[in-house]
Amino acid sequence: MYCIIGANGYLGRYCIKNILEHTSERILATARDVRELADTKRLSWKRCDIAREDEFDRLAAELRGYGKVKIIFLAAYHNPDLVAQNPYYAWNINVTLLSRCINKLGFADKLFYASTDSVYGNSVGGYHFKETDGLNPVNLYGRNKAAAEAIVRYSGFHVVRFPFLIGPSLVPGKPHFYDRIVEALTKGEPVEMFENSYRSSLHFDTAARLLIRLMESERQTPSVLNLCGDKDLSKYDIGLMMADMLNVPRELIRPVMIFENDGIFQTKRAVSTLMDNTLAKELLQLNRIDFTLCEGTEHEI
Ligand SMILES: NC(=O)c1ccc[n+]([C@@H]2O[C@H](COP(=O)([O-])OP(=O)(O)OC[C@H]3O[C@@H](n4cnc5c(N)ncnc54)[C@H](OP(=O)(O)O)[C@@H]3O)[C@@H](O)[C@H]2O)c1
Repeated sequence: MYCIIGANGYLGRYCIKNILEHTSERILATARDVRELADTKRLSWKRCDIAREDEFDRLAAELRGYGKVKIIFLAAYHNPDLVAQNPYYAWNINVTLLSRCINKLGFADKLFYASTDSVYGNSVGGYHFKETDGLNPVNLYGRNKAAAEAIVRYSGFHVVRFPFLIGPSLVPGKPHFYDRIVEALTKGEPVEMFENSYRSSLHFDTAARLLIRLMESERQTPSVLNLCGDKDLSKYDIGLMMADMLNVPRELIRPVMIFENDGIFQTKRAVSTLMDNTLAKELLQLNRIDFTLCEGTEHEI
């Protein structure tokens, strides 16, 4: 049995897809609004706002009844600009309430928490951060996630650090940055994308598939793991791949530069954050982890 807390988001929907495709397990998925969400044979939706203790307690009680349960914890307030604008609310959701939830989930067989490359800060000289490196987040979102990681790890559970994730949204009415680029390109409109800001990016589908593979593995997983692609990719690089995929002129992707504190974003972001995925590849017995725009592409083993 899987439980995904915060399942009706970009990554959550891809986790559901991959659990259904690659395991025979059932899923209890939570969202704050389940009115439009239909149950299927292996998937049930349950309303749960982690800020509502009564709702969370009902969820935890139900999960206890299932015996061995694997939990994916995705619920977060995570737009860096909004986190900076609403620091008390953000800390409450991302740290205080996360802690309350984790404290009530001690019975879980496994719990994996979705963290971010933002905990590391800036990669200088193309450095790829390893799991054992110190954390130096440049904004409050990264600091929230670093604090949340400590709670998860020292409760005996697992942290997975994801890079910049991209792909079509599977949530009706909630387009992703990817969908907006596709829309502009298909109308022949130009899109500006950063050419000097690099991440070890992944498609949502690849990220979710590797997470599920990790959770299904019998091998000992370290408490913190970078789960990211091999390639250092700028958003401009990804834009060019999207233009090729859509068969539109590459010139529609216009390169722009980003500098620390240049005010493009309201809150500071690391210009580049790259992660080392050696440990993930060892554990998952993969030779490569590719960034691909095609869902469901298998990786070399
Ligand atoms: N996308 C990325 O590039 C990326 C990279 C690294 C890490 N992550 C992490 O991955 C996780 C999922 O992110 P995402 O990209 O899938 O974003 P998302 O679509 O915004 O998903 C976040 C989910 O959190 C839920 N949530 C927010 N407040 C909640 C509350 N009080 N109670 C219960 N649920 C709540 C939202 O539920 P509702 O549907 O009810 O609003 C939403 O489904 C986050 O922890 C994020 O930090 C994402």
